[in-house]
Amino acid sequence: MPDLPVPELLELDRRHVWHPYGPMPGQREPLVVESASGVRLRLADSSGELVDGMSSWWSAIHGYNHPVLNEAAREQLARMSHVMFGGLTHEPAVRLAKRLVDMSPEGLEHVFLADSGSVSVEVAVKMCLQYWRSLGRPAKQRLLTWRGGYHGDTWQPMSVCDPEGGMHELWQGMLPRQVFADPPPAAYEESYAEHVREMVGRHADELAAVVVEPVVQGAGGMRFHSPAYLRVLREACDAHGVLLVFDEIATGFGRTGALFAAEHAGVTPDVMCVGKALTGGYMTMAATLCTARVADGISRGEVPVLAHGPTFMGNPLAASVACASIDLLLGQDWQTEVKRIETGLREGLAPAAEVEGVRDVRVLGAIGVVQLDHPVDMEAATRAAVREGVWLRPFRDLVYTMPPYVTGDEDVARIARAVCAAAREG
Ligand SMILES: Cc1ncc(COP(=O)(O)O)c(C=O)c1O
Repeated sequence: MPDLPVPELLELDRRHVWHPYGPMPGQREPLVVESASGVRLRLADSSGELVDGMSSWWSAIHGYNHPVLNEAAREQLARMSHVMFGGLTHEPAVRLAKRLVDMSPEGLEHVFLADSGSVSVEVAVKMCLQYWRSLGRPAKQRLLTWRGGYHGDTWQPMSVCDPEGGMHELWQGMLPRQVFADPPPAAYEESYAEHVREMVGRHADELAAVVVEPVVQGAGGMRFHSPAYLRVLREACDAHGVLLVFDEIATGFGRTGALFAAEHAGVTPDVMCVGKALTGGYMTMAATLCTARVADGISRGEVPVLAHGPTFMGNPLAASVACASIDLLLGQDWQTEVKRIETGLREGLAPAAEVEGVRDVRVLGAIGVVQLDHPVDMEAATRAAVREGVWLRPFRDLVYTMPPYVTGDEDVARIARAVCAAAREG
């Protein structure tokens, strides 16, 4: 394919292409990436390289252009890139499902392969609503969540995003009306635990499920909370006959220092969503896992099937790369790598606490966050990071990083310097 001259590419992009949460026509000029390798994004027109502090929104945990993942894709491409999943099956999907069952919290046994994180949350909600319908309790169709969450951009996920100040405030009144608890505090507070217990109990007759991001609330505000709240939710759900869904799309595959954030609390949810790092950031795929109890419940209903089946379900190419990515992760001492990045971010971000306008600095696993006391000037913050040779994508009042696990110590230090610079200038 011949290269488009960069000015022409940018003009076509501006006129025709939507970007995430972007206006049409585009108003901010994006950087043009020509290729990516390891932890570096190479910009077009010889504009140099940037160290990636974002892992392409939490997904590229092994970095870019990885020989093992490339080989898995090439090998699968030579067999078939896709076949339909209705009436057919294939080894990549079956292998992937088995790996996910083996590595996820004990008790999750069945896997629905979906095409994106948002769709996997849609499927999780459908599973829960259908479970109660099948059991003759159709009134149990609302969801409870805590404020400050983010679960995706399609309809049901939007309904459990924070309804105030969040990205989907616009749709209030049109989305299903869910039940919202206060946002979870960082440390364990018995009064908050009591608040959540009381809400689950009060709404139990109409609740199908509690849906939360465990331990880290990501795009809703990059907040961390005590894993003990997950045990509180598990006990309250069990006591009142409500299903528990963990959205591990952002936290899964080691990001918080545990393979899944649920492990920090030793809790198994009834349904769990994974995505993002599932394919090592190579292509889009997500999965919804559930327990035998949920699957059995659905199967006993008037409509004894899970009526969901996207065209690209179980895509063999994505499934092969996902298997290779999981093997790569589990075949190394990933805990040490995540710990190393955590230590580097703690040291490197400490100076940000002294910067005027910084409200909080927090680090957990391979996640570093600087929260400002004002909305970030995204352009100024991005410029400051790029000047340090780093790619960051600040939002709201947050400058943050989740680097690939293969980021070396010098590059972690550089990313931390860039976060501090972005916090100072944004
Ligand atoms: C916790 C969580 N759930 C769901 C999603 C939606 O995933 P996707 O963007 O793949 O639809 C995201 C994406 O940021 C997320 O962080």
